[in-house]
Amino acid sequence: MIDQLKEHISEVEGFTADDPKEIEEFRIKYLGKKGLLNKFFAEFKNIPNDQKKEFGQTINQLKTAATEKVNTLNNSLSDVVTEDAVYGDLTRPAEPLELGARHPISIVKDQIINIFSRIGFNVSEGPEIEDDWHNFTALNLPEHHPARDMQDTFFIQTNPDILLRTHTSSVQVRYMENNKPPIRTISPGRVYRNEAISARSHCFFHQVEGLYIDKDVSFADLKQTLQFFTKELFGKSKIRLRPSYFPFTEPSAEVDVYWGLETETDYKMTKGTGWLEIMGCGMVDPNVLDNCGIDSNEYTGFAFGMGIDRIALLLHQISDIRLLSENDIRFLEQFKSAF
Ligand code: DAH
Repeated sequence: MIDQLKEHISEVEGFTADDPKEIEEFRIKYLGKKGLLNKFFAEFKNIPNDQKKEFGQTINQLKTAATEKVNTLNNSLSDVVTEDAVYGDLTRPAEPLELGARHPISIVKDQIINIFSRIGFNVSEGPEIEDDWHNFTALNLPEHHPARDMQDTFFIQTNPDILLRTHTSSVQVRYMENNKPPIRTISPGRVYRNEAISARSHCFFHQVEGLYIDKDVSFADLKQTLQFFTKELFGKSKIRLRPSYFPFTEPSAEVDVYWGLETETDYKMTKGTGWLEIMGCGMVDPNVLDNCGIDSNEYTGFAFGMGIDRIALLLHQISDIRLLSENDIRFLEQFKSAF
C-alpha cells in the first residue's frame, strides 16, 4: 500500500498541464470527494499498527504534493497572458473610427473651385479687411454713389477708408492690378455686411467671385460658362439671365437656374416658379478695367459672383443660414459622408 502511495507521489510530482480542464481533472482524481486520497484515508483503519505511522506520513506527503501541484499549476495558468485577456474577443466588430466632418461651406466651396479649375480658372484670394478703393471706388462705385447703399458696410470707425469687404469683387480688382490678361480666376472668401441676423441672412457669409478677361470675350462666353457650371454643380443646365444692375458690370444680369417643380420642396424653394436665383454677373464695365490698369479698348471680360452659403443651403436642404456658423456638432456631423 505504501509503495502504491509512493508511486502516486512521483506521478503527482511529474504531472504537468497548462489546460485548466486537465488541472481540474487532476485535482478531482486526487483531492476530490471520491478521489484517491479519500480512498487511501479509508484504508487507514486496515493498516497494521506498526505501519500506521509511515502510512499516515506518506498519505500526508501525497496530499501536500497534490495540493501544491494543483496550486502551482493554477497559478502559472493565471500568469499566462492570453490573447483573450489582452484583446478580448478578436472576432467582435471593431470600434468605429471617429471621422471628422468637413464644414458644408468648405465642401461646397471646393466643389465650385473644382468645377472652374477644370475649365482653366485659378484661385485667388484677398484680404477681408479692405480699403475703400478695392471694395468700392475701383469697382465704379465712387464716394457718395447711391449704389453703395446696396450693401450695408462695416467701417472701421477711426478710419473710414478701411472696411470689412462687402463682396469678393474686391479680389478681382487686386487680381487685375497685379496680373496681365488673359485672366481666368475665381476668388472664394468671407464677406461682411451690416445686416440683421435671421434664418435667411447673416452679417458674414461667403462668396465666390469669377473673372475672365481676354481679347474678344463676349456675353455668349459668359452664358456658356455659367451653363457648364450649373450643369456640373446642380445637374441642371437650364438657366435664364434676367437684366439687372451692378455698378461694375455693363450689361449686368441675375442668373436663375431652373430647379424644377417635381416635389413639394421644389415648390417651397422656388416659391412655385421652378426658378432659383443663384448669382449676379455681367460684362466687366470698361471703367473698372481702366481703373485696374487694363486697356478697355483691347480687352473685354465677364465677371460673376455668388453666395456659397446660399448654395450650400440649397444643395443640402438646410433651412436656416445660422446653422452654418453655430458650430452645433449635431448639425456638422451630418456632413461626414459628404466628400
Ligand atoms: N458683388 C456682387 C454682390 O456681392 C455679386 C456680383 C454680381 C459679382 C455681379 C460680380 C458680378 O462679379 O459681375 O452682390
